[in-house]
Amino acid sequence: MSRQRPHRGPLITFEGGEGTGKSLQVARLCATLEARGVPCLATREPGATPLGQVIEGLIRGREGLPLEPVAELLLFLADRHQHVSQVVAPALRQGKVVVCDRFLDSSEVYQGRVRGLGWERVRRLNQWVCGEVWPDLTILLDLEPKVGLARAARRQAGQGQGRDRLEREELDFHRRVRQGYLDQARAEPERIRVIPAAGSPQEVAERVWQGVEPFLEEWPCGSKA
Ligand code: TMP
Repeated sequence: MSRQRPHRGPLITFEGGEGTGKSLQVARLCATLEARGVPCLATREPGATPLGQVIEGLIRGREGLPLEPVAELLLFLADRHQHVSQVVAPALRQGKVVVCDRFLDSSEVYQGRVRGLGWERVRRLNQWVCGEVWPDLTILLDLEPKVGLARAARRQAGQGQGRDRLEREELDFHRRVRQGYLDQARAEPERIRVIPAAGSPQEVAERVWQGVEPFLEEWPCGSKA
């Protein structure tokens, strides 16, 4: 994507499998940016709008409905379009750095590459759904799935929650998710930075910052860290 578009903030997305620490790193990055006086919005998919919350309930299986892969994809895309229109695009126009926990690569990997709908088809749908709002930088947190699943299980036990429908998938599914993300990164090395997610949250946050700081320094219309 061109870096020459004026008068808007950058969109930074975080991607990765379960338990890779995306939510924590999104929060840390926003805290770092705000401490430096950079206006920032932390957001996530699915579920960042009122409609998105209803969709999230359907997808996570709280309603107990079985979902076909295409229906699941279309729900994620409906959530995304609502999120882009109501939350992401307005914040970018205000010049904020928008940091999003999962975005279009999640659909291309989970539904496109792993569930077999084809990432190119999902890419075309993402282009329709997102329009001009495209990630300028994507941080891929990469971790061995067994380690990630153990982390996610500990987090959910601590919160008194059961595992949701997507996390109950077999280990092989999560291995294919990891490989799907690495393939995605290989295809777009300019946009997608692979960051090892093993180690303490502080260590990972430092690696993330090493990728984000030079990116923001080059951003053409402000939002410098
Ligand atoms: P998370 O909030 O713990 O990241 O869980 C979201 C789940 O939804 C995760 O299993 C990945 C999945 N997902 C998709 O399959 N496709 C998508 O487009 C998005 C945004 C999420």
